[in-house]
Amino acid sequence: MSGMRPTGLLHLGHYMGVLRNWVALQQQYPCYFMIADWHALTTKLDDTQHLATHTLETLIDWLACGLDPEKSTLYVQSSVPAIAELHLLLSMATPNKWLETDPTLKDMVALLRAPNGAEASGGGELTYGLLGYPLLQTADILAMGGSLVPVGKDQVAHLEISRDIARRFNHLLPPTPTDTEPLFVEPKPLLSDTPVLLGLDGRKMSKSYNNTIFLKDSDDETWAKLKTAVTDAQRVRKEDPGDPEACVGVFPNYRIFAEEAEQEQVAEACRKAAWGCMACKKQLAERINEALRPVRERRAVFENDPAQLQALLKAGAEAANAQAGQTLQRLKRRLNLLP
Ligand code: TRP
Ligand code: SF4
Repeated sequence: MSGMRPTGLLHLGHYMGVLRNWVALQQQYPCYFMIADWHALTTKLDDTQHLATHTLETLIDWLACGLDPEKSTLYVQSSVPAIAELHLLLSMATPNKWLETDPTLKDMVALLRAPNGAEASGGGELTYGLLGYPLLQTADILAMGGSLVPVGKDQVAHLEISRDIARRFNHLLPPTPTDTEPLFVEPKPLLSDTPVLLGLDGRKMSKSYNNTIFLKDSDDETWAKLKTAVTDAQRVRKEDPGDPEACVGVFPNYRIFAEEAEQEQVAEACRKAAWGCMACKKQLAERINEALRPVRERRAVFENDPAQLQALLKAGAEAANAQAGQTLQRLKRRLNLLP
């Protein structure tokens, strides 16, 4: 089980770093992949005009990358009310301290202030919703019985809280004669070793740095963006020999998108000033466009078929509700809530 907040169009970094991994996992495991729109509200309650669009774009990009609704359950968090109910019940035995000492909380509170200094959710104040971010995430995972959670390193602290909460509930509500299994599976993070994809400026590819190549971009847009990529700053003229290792915005992506022999040729041509940076960038644009061609083709198909998207959302919500409903029934029984 894993999730992603709907922040808009996905880029090459999402594809190489996260989605290719998810696509591989769905061959091996039954998977639940969730668009975390409630989580988006924890910091962006005053900025929701694009939320629905971003949610759909995320789904389109997921499908384009190869997440397969026949293999995996793909759904939107807010279409599964049982997650909210689970969140409430889990809150009854979650010590405040576990949430208050979440090391990610400080960064998230910083997000409460928009970059331009404008106030965001809670007027810059820590809200109950944001404090509960890892608890809601725990409900996401436990609702589906997720045992492995493919996430980045930044989410490991949250997963630790999820494990603690699962363990605490298993301890507080032990097996009964009619339900002999532990209540919850303790979820484990599944870290992948995909390298961080660098953007056009050599920093981590991220929308907030404006250095991304979107899956949605056309071949021409990709080329136009690559033209602006940062190269070896010491290489001013075409006749100057370059240093691929100092070329932060172009060469690292040859390492990812080209065969080894081509990487060597490119490095050699750069060092000997045998070609210019424009030719080098043009060739990389071709490699990236080749890698993204099937993704972009699928993307166009889904984008032009809103009826199919609606049908997929409906089917995903039904499957996710069924699973979460079962989890909730077991918990309610152990809590002796009136059926
Ligand atoms: N917090 C995660 C992130 O920002 C997104 C997320 C929400 C998630 N619910 C989840 C990840 C459940 C894994 C499992 O990346
Ligand atoms: Fe970078 Fe290529 Fe220019 Fe060398 S030739 S500096 S690798 S863009």
